[in-house]
Amino acid sequence: MALTLSKRSEQVKPSSTLAITAKAKELKAQGRDVVGFGAGEPDFATPKNICDAAIKAINDGFTKYTPAAGTNELKEAICKKFETFNHLHYEPNQIIISNGGKHALTNIFDALLNPGDEVIIPAPYWLSYPEMVKLSDGVPVIVYSTKEQGYKVSAEQIAAAVTDKTKALVLNTPNNPTGMVYSKADLEAIAKIAIEKDFYIVADEMYEALIYTGEEHVSIASLGKDIYDRTITCSGLSKSYAMTGWRVGYAGAPLEITKRMSAMQSHATSNVNSIAQKAAVEALTGPTDEMVAMKAEFDRRRKYMYERLTAMPLCECLEPEGAFYAFIDFNEACEKSYKGEKIGSGARMAEILLNDFDTAVVPCADFGYPNHVRLSYAISMEQIEKGLDRIEKFLKSL
Ligand SMILES: Cc1ncc(COP(=O)(O)O)c(C=O)c1O
Repeated sequence: MALTLSKRSEQVKPSSTLAITAKAKELKAQGRDVVGFGAGEPDFATPKNICDAAIKAINDGFTKYTPAAGTNELKEAICKKFETFNHLHYEPNQIIISNGGKHALTNIFDALLNPGDEVIIPAPYWLSYPEMVKLSDGVPVIVYSTKEQGYKVSAEQIAAAVTDKTKALVLNTPNNPTGMVYSKADLEAIAKIAIEKDFYIVADEMYEALIYTGEEHVSIASLGKDIYDRTITCSGLSKSYAMTGWRVGYAGAPLEITKRMSAMQSHATSNVNSIAQKAAVEALTGPTDEMVAMKAEFDRRRKYMYERLTAMPLCECLEPEGAFYAFIDFNEACEKSYKGEKIGSGARMAEILLNDFDTAVVPCADFGYPNHVRLSYAISMEQIEKGLDRIEKFLKSL
């Protein structure tokens, strides 16, 4: 047998958002004053009460294996949050706690997909979905939306993409990278198609706590029994509790699916770090004032960023409604020349901004939109102001 590597690993690309963040860090380490709009994580520290719960867990000796799918205490806290925030009833045995939202999602795809099964992914999409689907031997089917549609695909578009191989649809609201939020009416129309055409919904609600329009977050699984029975609802503590490094994500699903995911996780990773699970219980059941303050600060930055971006030439952007990203259409700017050469793509824009303007942005080819870039406002207001000044200077020079 030759020393070959797997076909599965061959077709997966490394994460380009992590790559741009690494490049920006490298330049910073060289002493350059780089503004990093790449961050997919809050700039806030994890609230103290949550850290204290972790320290207490260590001091109490809560440092052993827990059940592979998570402690009952944390599952119960998650069920309560599902009940009150999402209007969804799950029993603790329908919950699995995994190593971040990413691990929850890979478990879901592993539990659902057989080789060749198709998964519909609305674009713009978070760049990991197609890679995750491929890793689980599935086939990503991308359905594109336009700015005029508010970057949201319609139920009709989804229906048109369904084939006899369609196994699931990934639904991410609020959305990374667009910041758009699907309305209840949008979700009802999509649920109807899923029931009619008989496929699963993978509902990634990672940014559910970060909606700034005053509207309530709607979980598609809460819209009726038929859709509940075919939805896996996934979320985590990374974004809304400033807990990215703790690696706590979770899913609620019909019992049979949770059982399958738990069995797989019991062999792959076992439980999420026991200390992080204690911290997560405190996050979900303790005081919420810091979360409210973080959300208010994101909202302040969001408004400022949107106002500045829409006043810039060659820059088109919808007002983000949730998460902490602004999604910029640079189609017009890509037609312009810089230093005698046509810019041509968001990737080239990002390169110029980083090399010549010390500003890191995320090019969105891997999110399905090659002439767009994503800016995160999970960085300080001072950094946002400085970075936007630089982007404006660049655009005005074109
Ligand atoms: C839409 C979406 N889902 C899931 C995740 C995964 O989050 P975690 O860091 O908990 O794995 C992210 C992280 O960037 C995300 O943007």
